[in-house]
Amino acid sequence: MRIDVLTIFPGIFQGFFNESLLKIVRAAGLADVRLWDMRDYTDDKHSKIDDRPYGGGPGMVIMPQPVFAAVEAADTDTQPPARKLLLTPQGRTLSQPLARELAQEPRLMLICGRYEGFDERIRLGLHAEELSIGDYVLAGGETAAMVVIEAIVRLIPGALGHPDSTVQESFEDDTLDFPQYTRPPEFRGMAVPEVLLSGNHERIRHWRAEQAAQRTRHRRPDLAYKNA
Ligand code: 6GU
Repeated sequence: MRIDVLTIFPGIFQGFFNESLLKIVRAAGLADVRLWDMRDYTDDKHSKIDDRPYGGGPGMVIMPQPVFAAVEAADTDTQPPARKLLLTPQGRTLSQPLARELAQEPRLMLICGRYEGFDERIRLGLHAEELSIGDYVLAGGETAAMVVIEAIVRLIPGALGHPDSTVQESFEDDTLDFPQYTRPPEFRGMAVPEVLLSGNHERIRHWRAEQAAQRTRHRRPDLAYKNA
């Protein structure tokens, strides 16, 4: 899949794109991720990207011209046109089912805002959807875009070592994960639960299901209720 990221702070993405999961999927040709600096697309001689809001109020608003120009440059690069997502706290909240849906797209464009937001004509004119990563406020869309990209890219077949690892995990069935242990069998007085050392796969499966259900009820009654 192809993912284009439009930002005025491309440097924020450097480490993220060049380490760990993103490094692997890019090297393997599983994801073609490209950065576009919207400041390169301004008509303004001072590379101005934002201006004061009509009607007054604090802060600055991202102007339509540089965003449209950058989107058009990224979109004409290849076919088909990308599904366009504006990262804002006003958007639909990212969830595991939405990440699965987005992972099916051949092309995504993530447009990162800053300041008080985007001129509304950006959403209207580009037929862009708004996407949020949760009910709290970030200083800009860049960290949110990284969250979205990581949630999507790890679902691409071949991105993770073990294909089962995306099905048997938290939220895939609205249940939290069971607790995991590795060596040693005892660490600073804390023992690994006996059942996990028993070699009895039926007992282990039962214990894990019970632990997962109990954690979900205690920590996320909202999810537990959804399952009931
Ligand atoms: Cl996508 N952007 C900003 N600025 N804040 C957020 C967000 C996005 N998602 C949650 N909070």
